[in-house]
Amino acid sequence: TINIAVLVSGRGSNLQSVIDSIESGDIQNAAIKVVISDIGDAYALERARNHRISTVFIDPSSFENKQAFEQEILRALKGHDIGLILLAGYMRIMGKEMIRTYRNRIINIHPALLPSFMGLHAQQQAFDYGVKVSGCTVHFVDEGMDTGPIILQKCVPVMEDDTAETLAARILEQEHKILPEAVKLFVEGKLKVEGRVVVHT
Ligand code: GAR
Repeated sequence: TINIAVLVSGRGSNLQSVIDSIESGDIQNAAIKVVISDIGDAYALERARNHRISTVFIDPSSFENKQAFEQEILRALKGHDIGLILLAGYMRIMGKEMIRTYRNRIINIHPALLPSFMGLHAQQQAFDYGVKVSGCTVHFVDEGMDTGPIILQKCVPVMEDDTAETLAARILEQEHKILPEAVKLFVEGKLKVEGRVVVHT
């Protein structure tokens, strides 16, 4: 069994998609051990509690600096024998030590077709740019922001009458498919990172 930690900052619908895939048996030999949030009242924490998953709130404002905050995350992970970390709507950049410690074992979901529209508010960025196709990306996390090796992507069309919100909702539906799919591939040992490229074995 692979023990999973999920880092969140908000609503937690992507966390829910992974919980559901594990509970339905679609993903086997995986267990979410802990959900960690940098936001105290994130709805994601309630979702975790509803499924009897332990939760940790780590308040960034109570630390001297970014490193001290990251140390606390590492401490919270320790003891769970974590084999995979999911960033599911986690709105911070991972520190170097986290990435070094969990190299190719941290997976992020991003609401655009990388390398387009990195960073925050990717759906709004895509909408404002006027692209006709956007989508979502699941990738391993490296030292850059949204630059790591890509595992899966899904296209989503932009419609004439879209707003950034309706586009985001259409993208989110696909996020809920490709994030659990990527977790399944990882847990089954079917992902091999060769430089920039993730090979599905
Ligand atoms: C999702 O759309 C996710 O792709 C995005 O935040 C949302 C979280 O929703 N993540 C990022 O923008 C990362 N920079 P959720 O909390 O319901 O899963």
